[in-house]
Amino acid sequence: MNLMKGRSLLTLEEFTANEIETLVDLAVAVKAEKKERRFPERLKHRNIALIFLKPSCRTRTSFVVAAADEAANLQVFPEEDIRFGVKESTKDIARVLGRIFDGIALRGDHVLIQEFAHYSGVPVWNALSEDYHPTQVLADLMTIKESLGCLKDVNIAFVGDGQSNMVTSLIIVARKLGLHLRVVSPRSRWPLQSKLDKLASRDDPGSVVVTEHVTEGVRGADVVYGDIWVSMGQEQDTTALVQALGPYKITHATMQATCNPAAIFMHCMPALHDDDTEFARKYPGVCDVSNEVFEGPLSRVFEQSENRMHTIKAVMIATIGG
Ligand code: CP
Repeated sequence: MNLMKGRSLLTLEEFTANEIETLVDLAVAVKAEKKERRFPERLKHRNIALIFLKPSCRTRTSFVVAAADEAANLQVFPEEDIRFGVKESTKDIARVLGRIFDGIALRGDHVLIQEFAHYSGVPVWNALSEDYHPTQVLADLMTIKESLGCLKDVNIAFVGDGQSNMVTSLIIVARKLGLHLRVVSPRSRWPLQSKLDKLASRDDPGSVVVTEHVTEGVRGADVVYGDIWVSMGQEQDTTALVQALGPYKITHATMQATCNPAAIFMHCMPALHDDDTEFARKYPGVCDVSNEVFEGPLSRVFEQSENRMHTIKAVMIATIGG
């Protein structure tokens, strides 16, 4: 674990399979500790900044609670406080905050996060960019391990928008850790071939297949994974996305098509699964999963949400902990 000290988490590409598994195992251990109300304060006297340039429920609260559990000092900056490039460059802000804080979580454009990490000199944790969501996928791995007992050779069918940041992050961990990922998506939303090529390496133990056929794509899956169709900033494309992704809504029929009665359902959330949101009422047909599946016995969505906190705690301990 010492090898992870001082390092940023930008995509998970920068971590080996061994290191990713170590983070997941550490998260399992800190979860057990918390259940026993043991708090070893491994982040005492560490100062942590959270800069969120987009809204967040899970990621932000996970950093807040994980830091509190480990006795860190934490400051949350709303978007209007840190104005990158308005009267101060990203490079200068990064160098200032890097002198003051021990670790910084940043949600925003990926290029900005990369530049910030480059100049800050302290670990920077990508709390979601348009391209990657590494802290989410760590929680997903933890949830799979808890539910299925292992990670190797698990079959995951992601059903929905193949161009989402979750798909990129799932591709990275699937290839590295020996999982088998099927991206089930309309052709118009397939991951870009250039991205698939960039993320591939000859020695990868895992595999990635892209298909537009739902029944074929989910057959044999251990995990059916969904994501909201309209991400932050894509609202103007809602009608087109609903039209393209409508046939990819995850329903009881999708779960049955896995031919695996033990297949679990996962979702990074927020999920549109009923009419309890303004957005779902405004755009009929925008629900990406049926209520039956979301609320069903094989849904692991709230375990995933809880595990955001344990995995984020593990990342902070591994990279800046005492
Ligand atoms: N899954 C996720 O990142 O949720 P938030 O946007 O609420 O942080």
